[in-house]
Amino acid sequence: MKKTKIAVFVSGGGTNLQALINAQAAGKLHSGEIVLVLASNPNAYALERAKKAGIPGVVCSRKQLGDQETFEAAISAQLKEHEIELIVLAGFMSILSEAFTKQWPERIINIHPSLIPSFCGKGYFGLKVHEQALAYGVKVTGATVHFVNEIPDGGKIIAQKAVEVMEGDTPEVLQKRVMERAEWILLPQAVQQVSEKIAKEKEL
Ligand code: GRF
Repeated sequence: MKKTKIAVFVSGGGTNLQALINAQAAGKLHSGEIVLVLASNPNAYALERAKKAGIPGVVCSRKQLGDQETFEAAISAQLKEHEIELIVLAGFMSILSEAFTKQWPERIINIHPSLIPSFCGKGYFGLKVHEQALAYGVKVTGATVHFVNEIPDGGKIIAQKAVEVMEGDTPEVLQKRVMERAEWILLPQAVQQVSEKIAKEKEL
């Protein structure tokens, strides 16, 4: 079966990208192939991870490209050139418009560091998510992989994994536990699941 061609969109450290690269190397992402890493800024360490793994990395910067339309046109050109079939947002911090996401129904997935519908939506990203979880006093948090639509963190949920909040947790400690025990496990599993579905559809 032909593997699903995957682009991973990044902005920062790329630990979720690394989890996908490791899963691919371990044969756990057998229905898909990461063929492109697209960073929203040139300093994303995730680009180093792509380079080490021999995966082409490109930068599409909203700031450098000036406006949303030019930015998204540049992204679409890269996706076309690499014949991308599935987009994975892994810590991607730029906005994608409804006009863009509508072109990719159930073909863009995102990892969010909470159990949606808690602690999500506009403004909820990075450490802020864990600060809010601790402030609320939840005993369980976790990560969610979901399809992306025009509503921030609003698309259909694909998978979730719960993580215990421990006494004395700081936002940083909780973030690391959610990454290690949920995000880095969940994302490769979800990407394999969606890749397999796409690959099977191509066979029909
Ligand atoms: C992760 O916490 C992820 O849940 C969120 O952004 C962060 C990305 O981290 N979407 P990394 O760049 O994958 O290390």
